[in-house]
Amino acid sequence: MVPLNVYVNAASVAVGAYVLYFTLKFLLVHRRRSLVKQKHGCLPAPKLYQKDPFLGTDLVLQNRNAGREHRFLDLLKARHDKGGLTYTTDTYFRRTINTCDPDLIRNVLAFQFNDFGMGPLRQRSAAPLLGQGIFTTDHETWSQQRALIRPSFYRARVTNLSIYKKHVDRLIAIIREENCKTDLQPLFVRLTLDTNSEYLFGESVGLLSDQPLKHVTNFYRALNYAGEATIQRLRLGNLMWFHHDREFKRCCAIVHEFAQQFVDKALDFRRRETLVSPDEKDVASGERQKYLFIDELAKATDNPTRLRDHIVNMLLAADTTPGLLSFAFYMLSRNEVLWEKLRNHVLEHYCEPLTYEALMNMTYLRHFIQECLRLFPPIATNSRVAHKDTVLPVGGGPDGKSPLFIAKHNVVTYSTYVMHRRKDLFGEDADEFRPERWEKLLPGWEYLPFNGGPRMCPGQKLAMTETSYTIARILTTFSSIESLDNSEWQEKITLSLKLKNGIQCHLIS
Ligand code: HEM
Repeated sequence: MVPLNVYVNAASVAVGAYVLYFTLKFLLVHRRRSLVKQKHGCLPAPKLYQKDPFLGTDLVLQNRNAGREHRFLDLLKARHDKGGLTYTTDTYFRRTINTCDPDLIRNVLAFQFNDFGMGPLRQRSAAPLLGQGIFTTDHETWSQQRALIRPSFYRARVTNLSIYKKHVDRLIAIIREENCKTDLQPLFVRLTLDTNSEYLFGESVGLLSDQPLKHVTNFYRALNYAGEATIQRLRLGNLMWFHHDREFKRCCAIVHEFAQQFVDKALDFRRRETLVSPDEKDVASGERQKYLFIDELAKATDNPTRLRDHIVNMLLAADTTPGLLSFAFYMLSRNEVLWEKLRNHVLEHYCEPLTYEALMNMTYLRHFIQECLRLFPPIATNSRVAHKDTVLPVGGGPDGKSPLFIAKHNVVTYSTYVMHRRKDLFGEDADEFRPERWEKLLPGWEYLPFNGGPRMCPGQKLAMTETSYTIARILTTFSSIESLDNSEWQEKITLSLKLKNGIQCHLIS
């Protein structure tokens, strides 16, 4: 029999070797990183004061409370006012570089694109809802998905206004049915889901129809809940493991079940593609021109889960436009002079039926939308994770002008909401809503509502056209608007920014 002390000695040697291995590895990595920092003249970014310097529990709680009290964006702004353009935080073994510096953001999103990605944090927080879709993947998987989506947005399709017309007609009819006193925000959510599902999948989900089917309204509620919970998970960071919410799981299941109808459609298309002769194929593809996105998907894969992930990601991508429309009508319902000026401008260029060319001539409308996107960017905060050790040319030192070393797995979080309100970039009146400023401004990296670099929003033109068309139609249908809610706006952050109290208003014919 082997004496006990032999086992004890063997275990001690193993533990010792393990500790030695990791100590040596740590020292080597530390040494390598010091050399890189020295070579590039890197300086650390200022660190935000944390009561709990190690785990940052105070910051995590602040984030949670501000989220619950609908003032998360103001908290971010206050932190930048105190901490500067770029500062670091350490929460639960995660270092985050928080920035509102356009130069730093440009490097992360464009010049050093390959050094950064969505990373495991976003994947884990969003996976129950979004699976392996375009919003959560990197590298080859992402670029394949991006290539699939690209043809869906070619100019001739985006600028064909007939697709928006029938849904906006229906929206206006509903406003009238409700005696013109209504909350516009949920109507805009239904409108954009109807339009975009028709645009991408060839069939509208019918949320604005006379009697939307029960499973459609369930889907719409589930999508909202699941989007909100996904953001909570993301904010929890490494504490996400403690997020246990049965309702979240139930809502993800409802969304997935709903997407199944489009998966079946894609699989059906794929089956027919392989069965029919080339001549029949020409006829069939002619008939299905409008199904472009799911047709492209179907050609690429027959894996039902992959198909479902793509579809859910696209449904969610389109959920940004209602936020933009809502803030537009928030501003219009609070400012009579603005309504009058924009309405007169639109009427001056309006024609029946409204054409894309006429919309393009409405420059003040474009400036008005640009200003909405500046003050209320639907994607108000965003982040990237470093795939490897890297050096950014700015962000380090007390003034943020020195090179900054970023270690592998560090997170770079940027807020367009804060950046778009910087007085040094947009002038002393940066907090004011003033569309006229766009007569002279040429947007650069300080203005990023649609992001920049290779992952820039591919739906930008679609969103801008749909928004311009909807605003122009409402302005020409109604002569004035009255707000039925005098409170200040409060944020509601699901996967995009909306208003907690919606847009309660009275539209007058
Ligand atoms: C006002 C409306 C919209 C805004 C403000 C907006 C903004 C953005 C932003 C900021 C991103 C970058 C997200 C990230 O990096 O994490 C993005 C990505 C994306 N958007 Fe939009 N978007 C809008 C409408 C749309 C629409 C209508 C569609 C399509 C139906 C769409 C499709 C996408 C897709 C597929 C991506 C992912 C691109 C990629 O990762 O390569 N967006 N959008």
